Amino acid sequence: MALFVWDEKYSVNVAEFNGHHKRLIDLINELGDAMSSGKGREVLGKILDSLAEYTKMHFQAEEKLMIAKGYKGYDEHKKEHDRFVAQVVDLKGKLAVGSLSVTLETMNFLKKWLTGHIMGIDKKYTAFFNEKGIV
Ligand code: FEO
Repeated sequence: MALFVWDEKYSVNVAEFNGHHKRLIDLINELGDAMSSGKGREVLGKILDSLAEYTKMHFQAEEKLMIAKGYKGYDEHKKEHDRFVAQVVDLKGKLAVGSLSVTLETMNFLKKWLTGHIMGIDKKYTAFFNEKGIV
């Protein structure tokens, strides 16, 4: 059962990044499904790895475009990205040493972070990119 469902309200009006965000939502849901069906730490760790890798790829894509187009909010945005990557690395480390069980709390943290980030700072670039012809 999907814990987290994409909705038009999450649209940043840049097709490439909407696609990335949808994939991130899918990965969070996969983690939730694996957790609720009692999958072991190894499986959860692998999904968390995929989530971390995909997140990094997505962040780099946004940052590259911001730099290329001279987006003024780049520094602030990059800081948020870096903070999140550090938090996911921390989660992965805790899971690896067995001090974290992937709980609903972890899932809620990921969901809240992603929705907060998309609805907050990501949406700030929409008008800027759209004006540059990127949709
Ligand atoms: Fe879509 Fe800034 O992450």
